Amino acid sequence: MYTRSLCGFAVTFALALSAMVASAQSPNLGKPISPAEIAPWDINILPDGTGLPPGSGTPAEGARVYSAKCSVCHGQDGKGGTSTRLVGGEPIKNMESEKTIASFWPYATTLFDYIRRAMPWRQPRSLTNEEVYALTAYILSLNKLIGESETINALTLPKVRMPNRDGFIVRFPDRTP
Ligand code: HEC
Repeated sequence: MYTRSLCGFAVTFALALSAMVASAQSPNLGKPISPAEIAPWDINILPDGTGLPPGSGTPAEGARVYSAKCSVCHGQDGKGGTSTRLVGGEPIKNMESEKTIASFWPYATTLFDYIRRAMPWRQPRSLTNEEVYALTAYILSLNKLIGESETINALTLPKVRMPNRDGFIVRFPDRTP
């Protein structure tokens, strides 16, 4: 009896040991990823504009891209169509209020990030940075948040103040730009 249980202990111990060794080794799947391979996926734009690429655009340039690639869903002049409107919106009063770019989004830089990563709906990531800057300028200008002839680039975009900028409870005030 004593020998059997000791033997059982030895087997259990050996199994546990081999499991530890196995988890310490790599399964030899995949390959190391290089910074150049990560770069196309590393496209976050932070609220303060960190990550914005070189380039610029104006509302007039954006209007042309918009007619060709966006109005089919978002309607003429961003007024809405089969998809949500990109212009206007009453200030938010309660949970049921409509949330639009002008009434809800706290940072203008998010517009660049969103359009570049997600639009047009069926061809995400197909726009050039110049086109995204121009579309951002166009939508901001339609919402009267910038002038019609202002240029939007990595320096000017973070300075655009959105109407609902202070409408959020900031959990980590020290980290707010
Ligand atoms: C095929 C239809 C389609 C096209 C074309 C399209 N969009 Fe969209 N867009 C959508 C849909 C659907 C949503 C809503 C996505 C969601 O939140 O579920 C959306 C959301 C958006 C939003 C967020 C609006 C908000 O208030 O949340 C922006 C900004 C936007 N689109 C910009 C553009 C721009 C700029 C273009 C042209 C480059 C474009 N879209 C082309 C369908 C489209």
